[in-house]
Amino acid sequence: MDSSVLYRSILCVCSALLLIFTLSWLQTPTAPPTFSRLFTPHPKLIQSSAHHHESDIPRHPLDPLTISEITAARAILFSHPPFSSSPSSLIFHSLALDEPDKSAVLSWSSGDSLPPRRASVVVRFKGEAHLLAIDLAKGSVSSLPTPATGFPTMTIEDMTSSAAAPLLDAAFNRSIIARGVRISDLACLPVSSGWFGREIENRRRLIKVQCYSSEGTANFYMRPIEGLTVLVDMDTKEVVQINDEGGDIPIPKSTGTDYRYEAAGGNEMARPLRPISIEQPEGPSFDVVDGHRVRWAGWEFHLKADARAGLVVSSAGVADPVSGERRSVLYKGYASELFVPYMDPTDAWYFKTYMDAGEYGFGLQAMPLIPLNDCPRNAYYMDGIFIAADGRPYVRSNMICVFESYAGDIGWRHSESPITGLEIREARPKVTLVARMAASVANYDYIVDWEFQTDGIIRVKVGLSGILMVKGAPYTHVKHFPAKQDTYGTLLSENIIGVIHDHFITFHLDMDVDGTNNSFVKVGLARQDTNAGQPRRSYLKATRHVARTEKEAQIKLKLYEPYEFHVVNAEKTTRLGNPVGYKVVPAGTAAALLDPNDPPQLRGAFTNNQIWVTPRNKTEEWAGGLFVYQNQGEDTLAVWSERDRSIESKDIVLWYTLGFHHIPCQEDFPIMPTVSSSFDLKPVNFFERNPILRSPPNMEKDLPVCTAAASA
Ligand SMILES: *[C@@H]1O[C@H](CO)[C@@H](O)[C@H](O)[C@H]1NC(C)=O
Ligand SMILES: *[C@@H]1O[C@H](CO)[C@@H](O)[C@H](O)[C@H]1NC(C)=O
Ligand SMILES: *[C@@H]1O[C@H](CO)[C@@H](O)[C@H](O)[C@H]1NC(C)=O
Repeated sequence: MDSSVLYRSILCVCSALLLIFTLSWLQTPTAPPTFSRLFTPHPKLIQSSAHHHESDIPRHPLDPLTISEITAARAILFSHPPFSSSPSSLIFHSLALDEPDKSAVLSWSSGDSLPPRRASVVVRFKGEAHLLAIDLAKGSVSSLPTPATGFPTMTIEDMTSSAAAPLLDAAFNRSIIARGVRISDLACLPVSSGWFGREIENRRRLIKVQCYSSEGTANFYMRPIEGLTVLVDMDTKEVVQINDEGGDIPIPKSTGTDYRYEAAGGNEMARPLRPISIEQPEGPSFDVVDGHRVRWAGWEFHLKADARAGLVVSSAGVADPVSGERRSVLYKGYASELFVPYMDPTDAWYFKTYMDAGEYGFGLQAMPLIPLNDCPRNAYYMDGIFIAADGRPYVRSNMICVFESYAGDIGWRHSESPITGLEIREARPKVTLVARMAASVANYDYIVDWEFQTDGIIRVKVGLSGILMVKGAPYTHVKHFPAKQDTYGTLLSENIIGVIHDHFITFHLDMDVDGTNNSFVKVGLARQDTNAGQPRRSYLKATRHVARTEKEAQIKLKLYEPYEFHVVNAEKTTRLGNPVGYKVVPAGTAAALLDPNDPPQLRGAFTNNQIWVTPRNKTEEWAGGLFVYQNQGEDTLAVWSERDRSIESKDIVLWYTLGFHHIPCQEDFPIMPTVSSSFDLKPVNFFERNPILRSPPNMEKDLPVCTAAASA
């Protein structure tokens, strides 16, 4: 699965796992939100951030809100009617920087005063959602229209308290005991319930809670209490309905489920690697200016954490190797939404169609990175500052890391062979700069890398790891599978089925190729047949087509009808007259194959194409809509794109969806080795020639005293 946040609070205060999940709000610089009293953290798990953020001040127009700005915004709302009548009824679902207009950001330079600082806020008050913009200097609040359907991103408190709600129901307790599970061994997850056209879904915020037995393992995800689903009203915590089926399905054994180093066991031969590290004897080649601006190898970009998107890259530009001038490439890039539908239509599974950014908060679920393992020793760490449901800020330490990566790859090379008689041996090491985060949306882990290369490429890579969402089943061997009935997945271990599912991550890429006036060009490659009598019967020809409107930029990738997809500057060409551009280069990806009118796919319609292009519009940021939870899909990228607006010679946004089909296999048990895919933003006639000719080769004398033992 993906999404859900672990709840075990009242039941078991001693679990280390639990503490990791709750770390976030325990680091609250001010008093912790009330629900944290349920937990007692182990002191070792509270990482002290090297940096204390109380005195942070914003230094760039795109810098996230600081602790004092968040505190100020909260105070402004508390004294604003109608909230002032009952400030304690105000629930904060998000409070983040309302970014200044793009023109103000583009015309800003270091040393200028900042454009007015504003906060964009989503709160609920007495059951009503409000979207507000706050001017922090003036103290003024303006109210904006809210979407027609759906609810705001859940708060962490929504998730934890909903997961606890079933215990207030005697029938639930009886069912757990009847299945032989001790209440103290219960671990329950809040599963977003989706939208399936039922009347109740329009009125109430609903969530489905499913539980596991943690007896004998830290990996309770492998011990599902199958078929027991509790529908909970997220606001009243009332149990609306209990579906109690599958009582005869055994809870899988705990044997072999623990993945932790001490517990994993196994043969010594399976661990033959000696420690490895990267050395930078003269220190790193990048610096981070004013906390958020990263400069490396001609690149400069703004980097920040975001509660919903996770990691946001802004104002990325690269120095021209000839003129030295910084040229813009990408104004803003981030994961706009995730969609993770499971392929099991039965009662306890059909609704599992997660949207991890808009429902759970992709950034909220990003835990502190683990030094030396999540990121190498030469990494720099950046914190996130988020808010709890009561509007108080807290620090998520080490949420992002930045490091130079050298995987032993080659940047470019050429050697002359004896044929020519020339003695030329030229090769350059490939070093890149990675900005990384990892979100743990309950069981599943997503690793998101933005990798900047010296040749102008930006590679966006998503890795999937963590633990599968599995289904309890009566089978211990595939020979027990019923002949006529679907099992919806693979038998991974005795009584455990890994259910087939997809992952889609849709990226918002506000391209600014050498400025904001851009066009989207499809460069098609098609067979041409030659005239009779020629030695060749056919060849391939490239044809350019500038997309005039949005519908011409709704792209489904096809292997036998190949295209390149360029974003070009509408006004600039190279010395030779080629349009200056960047292309999006898909790598392995998967397409959405569900019925487009299936309710989850209506909501996930932003995955109907791999590529879309829209005219930039500040209110079209979230591909699944602003309020994704239980919405009806009326505010998605697919709906916006159907307006078929002009996109030629405009400030445009490219949307790219990276997809994965996942048919689980036994190697995914009890935890998955990382599976990755990526796409590139690659210069195409952007530079006048190879931009890394002048990159220096590595020399033995410059490197530390590690002997090349392997070649001895
Ligand atoms: C269910 O069990 C828990 C744990 O023993 C207990 O706290 C709770 O009160 C029980 N619920 C009901 C309705 O009996
Ligand atoms: C964008 O470029 C086109 C030429 O391709 C030009 O006609 C148009 O005025 C430009 N738009 C802006 C806003 O500068
Ligand atoms: C901007 O987006 C909003 C929301 O989709 C839409 O209502 C509005 O018409 C859009 N503006 C333009 C100029 O397309």
